[in-house]
Amino acid sequence: MAKIGVLGAGTWGMALARMLSNSGHDVTVWSALPAEVDQLATTRRQKNLPGMVIPDAIKFTKEVAQACEDKDIILFAVPSVFVRSTAKTAAPFIPDGQIIVDVAKGIEPDTLLTLTGVIQDVLTKDGKHDNVKYVALSGPTHAEEVAKDLPTTIVSACEDKETAEKVQDVFMNDNMRVYTNADRLGVELCGALKNVIALASGICSGLGYGDNMRAALIIRGMAEIKRLGLKMGGKESSFDGLAGMGDLIVTATSKESRNYNAGFLIGQGKSAEEAKKEVGMVVEGINAIPAALELSKKYEVEMPIVFAVDSVVNGHAEPRKVIYQLMHREKKSEMVI
Ligand SMILES: NC(=O)c1ccc[n+]([C@@H]2O[C@H](COP(=O)([O-])OP(=O)(O)OC[C@H]3O[C@@H](n4cnc5c(N)ncnc54)[C@H](O)[C@@H]3O)[C@@H](O)[C@H]2O)c1
Repeated sequence: MAKIGVLGAGTWGMALARMLSNSGHDVTVWSALPAEVDQLATTRRQKNLPGMVIPDAIKFTKEVAQACEDKDIILFAVPSVFVRSTAKTAAPFIPDGQIIVDVAKGIEPDTLLTLTGVIQDVLTKDGKHDNVKYVALSGPTHAEEVAKDLPTTIVSACEDKETAEKVQDVFMNDNMRVYTNADRLGVELCGALKNVIALASGICSGLGYGDNMRAALIIRGMAEIKRLGLKMGGKESSFDGLAGMGDLIVTATSKESRNYNAGFLIGQGKSAEEAKKEVGMVVEGINAIPAALELSKKYEVEMPIVFAVDSVVNGHAEPRKVIYQLMHREKKSEMVI
């Protein structure tokens, strides 16, 4: 039995908290929103997962210390934009040597750090957290399915094998199969960038384009992610694996995917703001666009789909015209595949 503190009580944080509690672990959940703590503790329901009953054994707290002190694992499950502030709030209560697992997917636009990198950046500043272990836990994992105990796989990524395996052991159960990977950066890049490609897939479906276009976006989208990821030091097998191709497939095809759904609404003529509002949960693909553009320029990697998504989402370009331009890009020798 492990003692686990969960920071963030959104859809994914609560689906994982329930799963871990049902596996026999001791789970304490903290949220930055006091009203959310009260609501969860009294109703035992998460608003975006109405069919899921929250086990009585899960404790809720408004004190971040109670979710950080004396824990085997601290799980960061807040949307990417809150990872830095949450790390700052939690830092005084995180002991050195702690295992921290992050499940949020994104890249910080100002620093271009992946999210375990952001937590590391905060914690190493005080000189008291030099031995913290950082794990990225990522894969094709819709909360809605995990909440129903449907079979799911995920990757525990950490350069320290022993830590990756410890997290594997804690999260593994009858319905969750956990693989390990030493390439934390590659796994995190996959998780952040596939959301941008999922927006493209949704935009195309919203426009009325079919499965041919979606398959093309998945494969050529992964080609872009891989080109960048390999230049940044990621391992090829990460991009081909569960956290890469696996997560891209599910995010770019599933009706459960908020990125796909947001793209669909944009393809149907809604603005990005309207789409985000209608989806009602974090749309990390939109958050990831600025960093993806910056990384593409910094590493001199061509990412035409990412740029096309940006011009539709932020440039308000007409989606059909942008797809036309993508299809009519200059013919190149590298079109041989
Ligand atoms: N939902 C999924 O299926 C899923 C699966 C894998 C990974 N993820 C990733 O997990 C992360 C969280 O996703 P989610 O679906 O739980 O999002 P969500 O929109 O459900 O999360 C909202 C939660 O964020 C927290 N929050 C709100 N304001 C905050 C603040 N100011 N400071 C700190 N926390 C605050 C609250 O607990 C709130 O409930 C995202 O990066 C997402 O990509 C989600």
